[in-house]
Amino acid sequence: MEFGFNEEQLMIQDVARRIAREKIAPSAEHHDRTGEFPLENIRVLGENGLMGIEVPTEYGGAGMDPVSYVLAMVEVAAADAAHSTIMSVNNSLFCNGILTHGTEAQKQKYVRAIAEGSEIGAFALTEPQSGSDATAMRCRAVKQADGSFVVNGKKSWITSGPVAKYIVLFAMTDPDKGSRGITAFLIDTAREGFGRGKTEPKLGIRASATCEIEFNDYVVQPDEVLGQEGEGFKIAMGVLDTGRIGIASQAVGIARAAYEATIAYVKERKAFGAPIGTFQMTQAKIADMKCKLDASLLLTLRAAWLKGQGRKFSAEAAMAKLTASESAMWIAHQAVQIHGGMGYSKEMPVERYFRDAKITEIYEGTSEIQRLVIARSETGLR
Ligand code: CAA
Repeated sequence: MEFGFNEEQLMIQDVARRIAREKIAPSAEHHDRTGEFPLENIRVLGENGLMGIEVPTEYGGAGMDPVSYVLAMVEVAAADAAHSTIMSVNNSLFCNGILTHGTEAQKQKYVRAIAEGSEIGAFALTEPQSGSDATAMRCRAVKQADGSFVVNGKKSWITSGPVAKYIVLFAMTDPDKGSRGITAFLIDTAREGFGRGKTEPKLGIRASATCEIEFNDYVVQPDEVLGQEGEGFKIAMGVLDTGRIGIASQAVGIARAAYEATIAYVKERKAFGAPIGTFQMTQAKIADMKCKLDASLLLTLRAAWLKGQGRKFSAEAAMAKLTASESAMWIAHQAVQIHGGMGYSKEMPVERYFRDAKITEIYEGTSEIQRLVIARSETGLR
């Protein structure tokens, strides 16, 4: 059992912390207020290896392990959750699936630019009428005699959709086969037949751009199929296992920021002639916040460590995401409460942490879906 980090892991944590503090934190309020996509900062993250942390160096990444990914995500998320959303999609949802299932040519073509942060990637699974029930998708890809596919349909809530160069798309190729009738495709958004709908105004992570996307007779060539035909659902589920480690890390980062702001505030703010941190009701909240924060981080590191060992980690990733996201929401809630009126004010960042934390309970599988994944794994029942 080893609770320390190795030199490489500490190094990437340090790089992420420096960028987070020097570049991201100072503009976090601006990006939240305006919803402006932080392209310049994303480029800096990419130049420092943070957009493809687990991507081997020959494909433009940092070639590091999943624990390094967690450490870097926590630092970025603590400065601004929206930046970490964009980072997690490039790392987990885009690069990871292509590295696992792509051909050599696909890795060369699609992974490098996204891992280097010179382009943005996206992942399109959700549709207007199918979220948790991903197999109910209606987006259709119909195979042609020459082996190409013609895609028609809509996808919604696409993180980084407004700015993505490439998208990993999941579409139904054989509706009679249910989850085994879904195929994954690599989409170039510059091509004819691809369109973008309205950008979603959101409660939190406001600088992470989200929109609906649309396919009208978009033609996918045979070498743009990711993995085997009919294998798409399993690819999506496997990618989301990794994605859930990323969102758990994001939740830990948001929670840590809310916690640290609270520790500073309870030492400084006085009531009834004493710092509010001396009151037992505040102390009880602080203790519970710290326990939940550390439990979330440890569960997240365990899932990442298992992944790095090449072991099964689906249920552990779900446990990490469930615990970290619900803890982040709870910790941010307590942070606002302890800050009182100042917690409700836009003058302090805690109200942003509160708004940003909520999404971690929703995307990449809701808390209800994580509970389902965990319980199925524990009981073997369906
Ligand atoms: N890895 C690999 N394969 C898996 C898997 C995993 N983790 N989980 C399931 N599978 C396989 C199963 O083994 C099964 O294979 P067979 O056909 O060979 O038996 C197949 O997939 C179907 O599995 P299930 O019958 O368990 O599927 P289900 O319909 O019951 O769904 C579910 C399971 C857990 C509910 C799943 O649909 C799910 O996770 N839903 C949530 C979807 C989600 O997370 N959406 C997030 C959208 S993306 C996003 O949010 C991105 C963003 O904005 C940043």
